[in-house]
Amino acid sequence: MASIAVYSVKGGVGKTTLAVNLAWCASTISRRKTLLWDLDAANGSGFLLGVDPRKKHSADSIFADGSDPAKLIRRTAYEGLDLLPADESLRSLDRHLDRLGKKRRLAKLVEGLAKDYDRIIFDCPPVLNELSAQVMRAADLVIVPLPPSPLSARAFEVVVEEVRGSGKTHPPILPVLSMIDLRRSLHKEAREANPTWPVIPLASAVEQCAVERKPVGAFAPRSPATRAIAQLWTAIERKLAAK
Ligand SMILES: Nc1ncnc2c1ncn2[C@@H]1O[C@H](COP(=O)(O)OP(=O)(O)O)[C@@H](O)[C@H]1O
Ligand SMILES: [Mg+2]
Repeated sequence: MASIAVYSVKGGVGKTTLAVNLAWCASTISRRKTLLWDLDAANGSGFLLGVDPRKKHSADSIFADGSDPAKLIRRTAYEGLDLLPADESLRSLDRHLDRLGKKRRLAKLVEGLAKDYDRIIFDCPPVLNELSAQVMRAADLVIVPLPPSPLSARAFEVVVEEVRGSGKTHPPILPVLSMIDLRRSLHKEAREANPTWPVIPLASAVEQCAVERKPVGAFAPRSPATRAIAQLWTAIERKLAAK
């Protein structure tokens, strides 16, 4: 089992969209038994997968000792892809974890899920706190979507510094230029300045995920965006295999 966090301290950079689409690649392309774990109270992952909330305030209950995550896990319309949905209760999860004082609570939950899943993907909220520190302790790889700008490399360094500051060790961090439009000169510059970083194009097909409430591969399988996301997934699998 390997776990992958899609993380940034910024909102609106494409974390949720990427997490959902990578989870779809893991289950559909790689045939991995996959759990998408939504840690953002906004519940964007559930929305994009067409899974409507059932209970209002229970997502934080599994962090209290003894509660079984299986009770909250939902099937999705996709073979091999399950969802651990978020809800409003996660807004206070950070304080909850602080109070618990168990630094590896999330990592322990992940270990418990390893018998049922090959891949766990975290959709993270844009925070730097005890929750994000626990994610860093639990994840084997961290994907950081970055908006394309001449400052992308600096923005990435900031995330790395912040992650480093939250604990002595941290997993490998993979930057991804998200929402790139090569017709724009600043985007082109960002691409040229970071030629080895994976790229996700700015695409209306990706935006449509929120309308269709499906991963892009499920309704636009031949779009360039679907191909780019699948390529990123292959790169991630390669990184995990090299660990
Ligand atoms: N590659 C892309 N092309 C076009 N729009 C995108 C792309 N990735 C994300 N978006 C849009 O950007 C907005 C923010 O994305 P989201 O995944 O919710 O970001 P975050 O989780 O980081 O806040 C959404 O409206 C989403 O549809
Ligand atoms: Mg999000």
